[in-house]
Amino acid sequence: MKKSIEVSASILAADFGNLERDIKRCEAAGVARFHIDCMDGHFVPNLTIGPVIVEAVRKHTKLPLEAHLMIEHPGDYIESYAKAGADIIHVQAECYGKRPSSCRLWNQWPKIIKQVDIPALRLDLKKIRKLHKKAFVVFNPGTALCEDVLDDCDGVLIMSVNPGFAGQQFMPEALPKLKRLKEIFHGDIAIDGGINAQTAPLAVQAGAHVLITASYLFSAENLSNVIKTFQK
Ligand code: DX5
Ligand code: ZN
Repeated sequence: MKKSIEVSASILAADFGNLERDIKRCEAAGVARFHIDCMDGHFVPNLTIGPVIVEAVRKHTKLPLEAHLMIEHPGDYIESYAKAGADIIHVQAECYGKRPSSCRLWNQWPKIIKQVDIPALRLDLKKIRKLHKKAFVVFNPGTALCEDVLDDCDGVLIMSVNPGFAGQQFMPEALPKLKRLKEIFHGDIAIDGGINAQTAPLAVQAGAHVLITASYLFSAENLSNVIKTFQK
């Protein structure tokens, strides 16, 4: 069955001084979810949002909240983000397993993993589900899909930029992964990074139905036009 397109507003490009106003603008425009980019300054060089902000956002919307954890040892934080009100928790595959030594420096970016530690990743996905939240695994542009964990996932998020910052350019390397997922996976297939009027159709054609957007959405004069364009 064909899934309808859902737009997830990534609040990284919202006005944090007027977060409640921006949440209401997004709701009125027809976004389906809110995407919250949680970065620790180690897994990615940027430092952003902890559970307190998720809690603050939770008070202003009933729409699903996605916590995209770009943090080392994500398992240690799953419970806090769940308690703060996240409905969906995304963990990055690159956090599981041994990284090459060149990749262990704190400022090395993006993090690379050759062999994902599947049992460790599976444990965290199960931990998310035990808390009655939806479990998503995320793959960076340079990371191959690990199909073995899909049974433990409600969704898969394919990164079309190296995570860490809003406003980067879409990387077409993401498209074959979406195509493969479309063939073998029945849960949510989401795409994140550089999504705009030109790249959204490519992603949807390849298999994505959850479109995450920060800068393109929040820089628009009329947010509902963005949602309408994507849904077309
Ligand atoms: C990147 C984040 C994305 C980001 C998308 O690290 O995971 O969610 O907010 O930003 P845009 O839509 O500007 O590429
Ligand atoms: Zn994100």
